[in-house]
Amino acid sequence: NLSPIDTAKFVAAKRAVDFVEDGMRVGLGTGSTAAWMVRCLGELVREDGLRIQGVPTSTRTAELARKVGIEVISLDEAKWLDLTIDGADEFDSDLNLIKGGGGALLQEKIVATASDRMIVITDATKQVDTLGAFPLPVEIIPFGWQTTKALIEETLAGMDVLGEQATLRLNGEAPYVTDEGNHIVDLHLQRIGNPRHLSLVLNQIPGVVENGLFIDICDIVIIGHGDGRVEVND
Ligand code: A5P
Repeated sequence: NLSPIDTAKFVAAKRAVDFVEDGMRVGLGTGSTAAWMVRCLGELVREDGLRIQGVPTSTRTAELARKVGIEVISLDEAKWLDLTIDGADEFDSDLNLIKGGGGALLQEKIVATASDRMIVITDATKQVDTLGAFPLPVEIIPFGWQTTKALIEETLAGMDVLGEQATLRLNGEAPYVTDEGNHIVDLHLQRIGNPRHLSLVLNQIPGVVENGLFIDICDIVIIGHGDGRVEVND
C-alpha cells in the first residue's frame, strides 16, 4: 500500500519502462522516482528476460541496479545511449528542468546528453510556470570555493532572477561532497527569467563545473498522479 506521492512516482516509472526495448543501453537516473524505475527495469530483466545494459548516474543508483539484476556498464563502455530515464526537481512547459537536488547533476547531465532520448518521470507537484522556486544546484570544485561562490553571487546581480543568495550545501557540519569530489552551492533565485542564458553564464565562471539547468535535453515528461493516472507530455 503506497502513499499517494509514492503511487505517483511508481506509476510514472512503470510507464517509462514501456519505452525500454530489448538490447538498449539505458541511462539510469538518481533519486527516489528514478529508484522506482530501476526496480521496475530489474523486474523485467529477471522475470521477462529483458536484455539491457544500464549506465548509472551515481554510486547509489549503481548499487541498486546491480542489486536488482541489471547489467551495469560505464558510459565509456557504452559510448552512446538509446535512452535515459531520470527524475527532476522542477520542469516547465518547454520541458526545461532543474535537477541536482540529490547531488548527482553532473553525471546526470553527461549521461542524459549522451542519449538519443531523455524521459523525465515525476509527480505533478514539480511542474512550474517559471523555473527557480527550487534552489538551483551548481557544482563547484573545492579549490577556492568561497571565491567561486562570491563570483557566482556577483554574477547573479546582473541576471534576470529575483534572489541572489547562494548557500554551500552541507552534509552535517562539513561541505557536501559529490561523486566527483566536488561541492555544491544552491542558488535561491525564486524566478529564473532566462534559464538558457543563466546556464551559459554560470558555466563560464572559473571553478564552476556544471549547473542543474537542463535546457533542451528532456524529450518527454511522464507525470504520475496519486490516484494512479499518468500523463505523457512531449
Ligand atoms: C538528483 O541529483 C536529482 O537530479 C534528482 O533527479 C531529483 O532530485 C529528483 O529526485 P526525487 O525523484 O527523489 O524527487
